[in-house]
Parts: sequence; C-alpha cells; structure tokens
Amino acid sequence: MSDGSEFVVVANRLPVDRVVGEDGTPSWRRSPGGLVSAIAPLMRRRQGTWIGWAGKADEKLEPFQEDGMALVPVFQSSEDVELYYEGFSNATLWPLYHDVVAPPVYDRAMWDAYVRVNRRFAEVTAAVAGEGSIVWIQDYQLQLVPKMLRELRPDLRIGFFLHIPFPPLELFWQLPWRRQILEGLLGADLVGFQLPGAASNFVRLCRRLLDARYSKQDVYWDDRVVRARAFPISVDVEELHDLIERPDVRARAKEIREDLGGGTVLLGVDRLDYTKGITQRLEAFGELFGDGDLKPGEAVFAQIATPSRERVEQYQLLRDQIEQQVGRINGEHSELGTTVVHYLHTSYDRKELAALYLAADVMVVTPLRDGMNLVAKEYVACRDDLRGTLVLSEFAGAAGELGRGAFLVNPYDIDGLKETLLKAIHTEPAEQAKRMRTMRRRVQEHDVDRWARSFLDELETPAEPQVAEPQPA
Ligand code: ADP
Ligand code: G6P
Repeated sequence: MSDGSEFVVVANRLPVDRVVGEDGTPSWRRSPGGLVSAIAPLMRRRQGTWIGWAGKADEKLEPFQEDGMALVPVFQSSEDVELYYEGFSNATLWPLYHDVVAPPVYDRAMWDAYVRVNRRFAEVTAAVAGEGSIVWIQDYQLQLVPKMLRELRPDLRIGFFLHIPFPPLELFWQLPWRRQILEGLLGADLVGFQLPGAASNFVRLCRRLLDARYSKQDVYWDDRVVRARAFPISVDVEELHDLIERPDVRARAKEIREDLGGGTVLLGVDRLDYTKGITQRLEAFGELFGDGDLKPGEAVFAQIATPSRERVEQYQLLRDQIEQQVGRINGEHSELGTTVVHYLHTSYDRKELAALYLAADVMVVTPLRDGMNLVAKEYVACRDDLRGTLVLSEFAGAAGELGRGAFLVNPYDIDGLKETLLKAIHTEPAEQAKRMRTMRRRVQEHDVDRWARSFLDELETPAEPQVAEPQPA
C-alpha cells in the first residue's frame, strides 16, 4: 500500500489517446465518447489520479501529467484488446446492455480476458490509491473491479458508475457470467446508474439471481450495505459557455452556415455506433425529398461521425451501410452544387463542435438506446440565443429531462420521424425560444459538476445503519 492518491478515477480509457504521427513523433489527443467529456473537467478541478489505457496495444508507458491531471497508464496486449476490449466489452456487453440492438457474442475466451484485464486494473489501482481514499470506477468494461479491489484494499471507499443503460432482468439473464458480474459490482459501496429504472433493474437482479436481501434501493451483501442510486450525467456548461462566447467560434458558425448553402441546417453528431440510430434519421430525411416535402437547398443534413471501435464487425458493417446510404440519398436527391447530406467520418475539437451546434437549426439525436446522450445536452447548453430545436429519441436517457422542450420521437417509426423532422424544421422562433428556455433551465441547474458532487457526496456519506430487518429474498 502506498501513501498515494486521495481521489482516483479508474476507467478503461485515459482521457487522452497516444497517437504517433507519420514522422514518428508521439502526441496526445482527447479520447472519444461521453465518459471522457464528463469526467475530465472534474479531474482537472479535483487534481486526482486517472488510471486507464492509453488506446494502443502492446505499449508500456510510465505515469505522466497532462492537462493538470495525473495519469497512470494500464497495459493492454493485442490479445487483451481483441478479446477484452473489442470482444467482451464491445461485442458482448455493449449490445446486450443496449437492448440487444445487435446480437451479443458469448465467447469463453473473451470472458477469460475480461477477468484478466479487470484484475490488472484492480492491482494497479490497489498500488496507487492512498490509505482510505476514494476510488471511482467507471463503466461496463470494469464491472469486476469493485469486488477485486475490495479484496485487495478493504480500506478504500469504492464507487462505481455505469454510463450506459443497465438491462432488464429478461435480457441480463442471457449472460452466461451474470452472477460474476453482479457480484463484481456489489464490491462497491455505491453503484450509480443514469436512470432510476436501471437502479431498480440492478436491485431486482440481485434479489432474483443472488438471493440477496434488500430494502428499497439498498442491497445487503457480505455484511455491507451496497447502495444503488440514479445520477443522470450532464455536461460542462461553463466550458461550453466560454466556447460560444469566443468571436472566432461565432464567426466559424456563420461560415459553416454559408458553406452549407443557406437552407435549414439539420445536424447529427455521434460516435459511429449502431446504437445511435444514424441510418434511421438519414432514411427519414431522404424520404422527405422523395415525397416532395423538402426541396434541395431548402434543408441540408450534416452528419458528423467519430470513428469508433473500427475492428469490431458490427461497426464495420454500419460504416459500409451509412456510406452506401449517403451515396444513394445524394445520388437521388442532390442537384449540381446542392448536396442534401454532408457526411464527415471524423472527430472535431471542442471549438469546431461548439460552432457546429451554433450553426444548426435542428439537432437530430435519435439513438435506438442510449444511457444519457451528452450531445443533446451540449446542444442545449450552447444555444444561449434560444434558437434551434432538438429532435430527441424517446430511448435516450436525456428524454426524461429534456422531453418537455424537445420533439420526442420513436426512431424505429420512420413516418413519425419524418413528421417530427418537418415540425422541427418549421417551428416558429417564439416556440423555439419557449422550448429551448425549458431545456436550458434543466441543463444549467443540473450540470456535470452537480452530477459528480451528488455522486461523491453520497459515496462519502456513511451507509445508514440497518434500522429494520430487510426483506427476505
Ligand atoms: P457516447 O458516450 O456514446 O459517445 P454521448 O453523446 O453521451 O455518446 O457523448 C459523446 C461525446 O463525444 C460528446 O461529448 C460529444 O461532443 C463527443 N463527440 C461526438 N462526436 C464527436 C465528433 N465527431 N467529434 C468530436 N467529438 C465528438
Ligand atoms: C461510451 C462509453 C465509454 C467509452 C466511449 C468511447 O461513452 O460509455 O465507456 O469510453 O463510449 O468508446 P471507446 O470504445 O472508444 O472507449
């Protein structure tokens, strides 16, 4: 045990990826996804230690400092990446937890790698965390770490937060290693979820699968109380506010609008992931031209998709499918000099993203299932001009908080999606302002700082002594 860090975050990924340029010079680039967007600002403020993978196989790196954070890299071999990261994490758990929108792969070698890499994370954390410190473990890739870490370091206060949905009993039951995963999570003092329904799913599973005693959202396990609670994640409102105040960002937004031809701008910003409903939204948009509801030049769709998990088969299939679809829609509906869909398979920096949000009249967020969806909240946080509309899937966690101001849709219902896109395109400015104001109030009052504070306050509060005999299993 060391006299090391007092506050430790453990996530599969570090907030930065190591990239090596063509001339062999290494540099650091922000890692993709919502987890990093949410935790990085907190870490800068708290000066904690972040334990994670630097994004490249077979690289042994020493701990280092970056952007005010102490980073401790965890090694992953090519085999670990293939079986633990691309395999069990992203070909088994990711589709299973997202309503099996793609078929999950159940493979014993992948499971073995998941156990092995989770143990490595637990061992590195046990060596880095100071006596009695707070350790906050993140997401589905590391669900065994809470138990493994508690066995190594019973002095620690251990929190776990799941950034993605937690499935209902009927789906979770499919998993051959369902018991081990639940027991892994129960190593934490506090298990956090995006929504109350997910916390209830977890408690119900503990009861049915492990015969655990419970009371409301507390599970009694190993002579401890494990709390399951919902903490809807959010965005760094202050960071986004500073970005949109910048004259260069405002100017860039204007330029983007001009480049896109002056019609109504619809925008999609996602990791290229089959859970995000990208093909559904493009299908609906394309059909509006076929039906004569839109004419080229009147509206344009800009879809920005960050490359993601590119060696996993379902992601390769999706990429091909979207490229074909964009080609078909543009082939059928664009005119010379007037493209209807702009598709960019790339990642942008925060300034460019903020400019894109400011340039968009309609933000289109249509996941088939999503834990929260930060893009929806980022858009709202950027629109201090009270302009723009948000089309939001009922299956995004964010729908609960933004449902009163957004246009909610079922992304599986292409006709409903078409109708909603038209409504959003034709919303009058006064109505836009009314809706945006409602959404902004929510996001401003519940920003990422409040999310982190409420999780950590709960984690630091000692568990209530058991007052009544809990329910028998
Ligand atoms: P997920 O975590 O599944 O990727 P979220 O919507 O919750 O989905 O979070 C995505 C995060 O990644 C957001 O902070 C968003 O700004 C960022 N992001 C998404 N697409 C891009 C892109 N093309 N370039 C840069 N950042 C992106
Ligand atoms: C989502 C997950 C994160 C993950 C991110 C990017 O936000 O919840 O855990 O880090 O996607 O995915 P990647 O596989 O590139 O880490």
